[in-house]
Amino acid sequence: MSTLDKINQWKKERDAVILAHYYVDDEVQAIADYVGDSFYLSKIATMVKAKTILFCGVSFMGESAKILNPDKTVVMPDMGADCPMAHMADIDKINQAREEYEDLAVVCYINSTAQLKTYSDVCVTSSNALKIVKALPNQHIYFIPDENLGRYIASQAPEKHFIFNDGYCHVHTSITAKNVQIVKDIHPRAEILVHPECTMDVIAMADYVGSTSGIITYAAESKCKEFIVCTEMGVRYELELKKPKKRFYDVGQKKCSDMKRITLDNVADALEQMSNVVELEEELLEKARKPLERMLELG
Ligand code: 13P
Ligand code: SF4
Repeated sequence: MSTLDKINQWKKERDAVILAHYYVDDEVQAIADYVGDSFYLSKIATMVKAKTILFCGVSFMGESAKILNPDKTVVMPDMGADCPMAHMADIDKINQAREEYEDLAVVCYINSTAQLKTYSDVCVTSSNALKIVKALPNQHIYFIPDENLGRYIASQAPEKHFIFNDGYCHVHTSITAKNVQIVKDIHPRAEILVHPECTMDVIAMADYVGSTSGIITYAAESKCKEFIVCTEMGVRYELELKKPKKRFYDVGQKKCSDMKRITLDNVADALEQMSNVVELEEELLEKARKPLERMLELG
């Protein structure tokens, strides 16, 4: 039996739906029922009817799906696929900031562990962070864990006072302004599309800044025919599906090695064996749900 047949058979058997992020390999995106950015996937996870969610992404995504759907079984193809940035915030520093500022909102990027979420007031993704920060009544915002997304949102919300944390994504910080300029010199008509996990000097060069879905929608709707893509190049699969005649250039960025751990083989095995089930303690589930639900309300 082929791997694809195996996946289809076990999907039926397990009453499973497959969700995938744009950064996983092309063939995995191709077999998914829903592909999207972090916000879309967390919303979809609350809407699907299937008993089992197989999440082709990194662990914070599977955790978020479980937190929002405690009665469903959430399975990961590879439990080792973990976003390093999700761990890059310090609970002592959060507590210190809460003591220092009475009117503080801890705003937590969804790329974070379930434990970090429990110390937060609201979660955000790159597609809704600005809207949510602006909607908060608080003046002081402690943005965790990503410094670059925090600085970009701060630049768009000057009425708020931000405290930054020093987390970062190694994929997006591997994109340098110098390399973007080299590609722009070769393709001067290309528009520059930038994910806000990039550094501010790269963001300053952008024609468009947004989440993976935002980048895909912008490129599809733009009159321009060529684009310099400043995010993980897994997005190229959807970009080329949507606009096969347009050109998409990379800037020599790193791959997200964690997202690339997901393969058709481990998708099939996870469904068959049901071994990589996301399990979180009841108290953790309860506490981490509040900031995620607040995100869904405000976002
Ligand atoms: P979005 O898909 O929300 O743009 O996030 C990118 C990312 O780094 C996911 O890990
Ligand atoms: Fe984490 Fe960066 Fe990979 Fe996204 S691209 S999962 S932020 S390491």
